[in-house]
Amino acid sequence: MLFKQQAWLRQKLLVLGSLAVGSLLYLVARVGSLDRLQPICPIEGRFGGARSQAEFPLRALQFKRGLLHEFRKGNSSKEQIHLHDLVQQLPKAIIIGVRKGGTRALLEMLNLHPAVVKASQEIHFFDNDENYAKGIEWYRKKMPFSYPQQITIEKSPAYFITEEVPERIYKMNSSIKLLIIVREPTTRAISDYTQVLEGKERKNKTYYKFEKLAIDSNTCEVNTKYKAVRTSIYTKHLERWLKYFPIEQFHIVDGDRLITEPLPELQLVEKFLNLPPRISQYNLYFNATRGFYCLRFNIIFNKCLAGSKGRIHPEVDPSVITKLRKFFHPFNQKFYQITGRTLNWP
Ligand code: A3P
Repeated sequence: MLFKQQAWLRQKLLVLGSLAVGSLLYLVARVGSLDRLQPICPIEGRFGGARSQAEFPLRALQFKRGLLHEFRKGNSSKEQIHLHDLVQQLPKAIIIGVRKGGTRALLEMLNLHPAVVKASQEIHFFDNDENYAKGIEWYRKKMPFSYPQQITIEKSPAYFITEEVPERIYKMNSSIKLLIIVREPTTRAISDYTQVLEGKERKNKTYYKFEKLAIDSNTCEVNTKYKAVRTSIYTKHLERWLKYFPIEQFHIVDGDRLITEPLPELQLVEKFLNLPPRISQYNLYFNATRGFYCLRFNIIFNKCLAGSKGRIHPEVDPSVITKLRKFFHPFNQKFYQITGRTLNWP
């Protein structure tokens, strides 16, 4: 009898204990989300100057995640847009490339900053003649809504390698800031190949092996006609850009480091864009399943990049890798010299 009573008492205590822990957890979550529920205020201070920490409060970040998202989806009236003083601004910075360098990761990570608003889609305004013919107003209308104090950033990696783009961007804004994210050239070329291969496989098409494309079978030399190889000759493309923009207007992001250690790379970009440092380690967490860093906006909202980012590369003949690395080496040296950023590639 006594034993039964003790068991009953233990069970009751267990239920009460669970209730207490549950309530406590609810309270913690509720307090954590209170900031989200506060009224929305515009960000004060202007982009570009020195600002205090308080000028880009968490509320502004919440605004971006909530209301701006609705605006972007079109779930808002003209009155609301007007009321909130929202505008569609031409970009003050563009991620011009390089394809497969980590351009999406860079854009998404920069978008963690409350003063940055990303254009979600690649707009391909400057590299696509048909789009370019539609004019600058068309381009501006493709931009997300933002506060005048925020900056818009877009990324279209094809810009870096397309002949006409530097002059066209220069005509729009000769003092624009240009971001280039690069990876070790051979790895980037293989990543490029992997993306094309996946596209072919999706359509049930066969495709050549990387080795066959990258090496000219007649000469046994590196095939410079292969686009994935040409794109990785960074210095050649950069030299075309330097005919229009001084090197100070470019910032080189180490795409390999952005994978393993994103925060210091992002802090360098914040500095380059004259933004107060706002992205912190809290915003980035390593997801072991994905094998990459993912983004944390707040205690509720976090996300990893899509599965198309971080593909498994096919195995490539080591002798071909060695050949490619040897080929890229002098171009890399020149790239370090021009940009002032040494990346220790093999
Ligand atoms: P792989 O698919 O070869 O691994 P882009 O966005 O320019 O197409 O670049 C894609 C590359 O971004 C991926 O190449 C991946 O390695 C890299 N990347 C960098 N940071 C990443 C992240 N946090 N999550 C997923 N991919 C990331």
